[in-house]
Amino acid sequence: MTYPHRHPTADHVEKKGIPVHEHTSTGHRTPPASHRRITVTPPEQQPPAVSVWATAQTSPATQRKDRYSPDSTAHPAKMLPAVAAHAIAHYTQPGDLVLDPMCGIGTTLVEALHLGRRAIGVEYEPHWVTVTQTNLDLAHHTNATTIAGRVVHGDARQLSTLLPADLHGQVALVVTSPPYGPSTHGQVSTGTAGVHKHHHRYGNTLDRGNLANIGHHRLLAGFTRILTHTAVFLRPGGHVAVTLRPWREHAELIDLPSHILTCGRQAGLIPTERCVALLARIAENDLVARGSFFQRDFIRKQRNNGLPLHLIAHEDVLIFTKPTTSKATAEKGTPQLQFRDSVHAPLAAA
Ligand SMILES: C[S@@+](CC[C@H](N)C(=O)[O-])C[C@H]1O[C@@H](n2cnc3c(N)ncnc32)[C@H](O)[C@@H]1O
Repeated sequence: MTYPHRHPTADHVEKKGIPVHEHTSTGHRTPPASHRRITVTPPEQQPPAVSVWATAQTSPATQRKDRYSPDSTAHPAKMLPAVAAHAIAHYTQPGDLVLDPMCGIGTTLVEALHLGRRAIGVEYEPHWVTVTQTNLDLAHHTNATTIAGRVVHGDARQLSTLLPADLHGQVALVVTSPPYGPSTHGQVSTGTAGVHKHHHRYGNTLDRGNLANIGHHRLLAGFTRILTHTAVFLRPGGHVAVTLRPWREHAELIDLPSHILTCGRQAGLIPTERCVALLARIAENDLVARGSFFQRDFIRKQRNNGLPLHLIAHEDVLIFTKPTTSKATAEKGTPQLQFRDSVHAPLAAA
């Protein structure tokens, strides 16, 4: 089996009808224009786009180096920059607008700016809003770009009241990730008192406005509302990329990707692709996992108890598309699940 180290369709932008390779999908920074070696590949010679994204060829720390402030480290569930970069390069063109309604430290926004796209994000926790703003400023200075990036503080379930109405129908791509699976979050330090877990919470755990602090069904209902609002800002034919993975509760598999597919349909979006973003490095003959201490520890204990689990080496990336016609919206599939949201009344689909 061979693996692509570069994603050709993700790597090119059209210039006078000729695809020009501008960056790698592995998170490497684009060299300055004066140093860049530009490869022109005729379209017919380009290998086809594949659904496995080589997004962990370099470590998370290397991908974030010089691009994200040190304060970013404490966020419990940051997206790999190369995952956001790959989605942005693949589904948008320079100058397009990219949105993340739950932007955390602003990975989607920062990677969008570095790729010459405009970006806007929303985040519930004030601290992470500040960190995102710092990261946007950093992108602005290191890239010397005049492209605007903006972060707004608020509850994305009220997205339509947070973002200006003149952005309706303007967003080319949403890249986002819901909060999930706290057992997989955080970092670890070892000392005389033993192993200590830290940085595994988003903020005040009693604050139910943060979707991380409510039960699974309310998380799904809240995320459906966010997608529904998001669809209003998407342009027809625009895409939504949701990165996530299943997690386990008391050894039971919680198949979050399947549930999120239902959320997307309920929001009037059409599921169009299901991709794999690798969290492991592709080596000559193998995949080299980058699993955290807790992930390895969890798997080891489960295996010792007779449950043959595997170390997770990828994220699921669900791609939805906004229908280009209202007829297509009306024909959307019947939802298989109904999610209870006792806090908010149902919101009409866009
Ligand atoms: C999985 S993290 C996203 C991380 C982000 N992709 C990044 O790379 O930093 C989910 C984020 O959603 C935020 N969040 C939770 N509830 C929210 C809400 N109601 N509105 C907006 N953001 C929310 C959390 O605070 C958290 O930062």
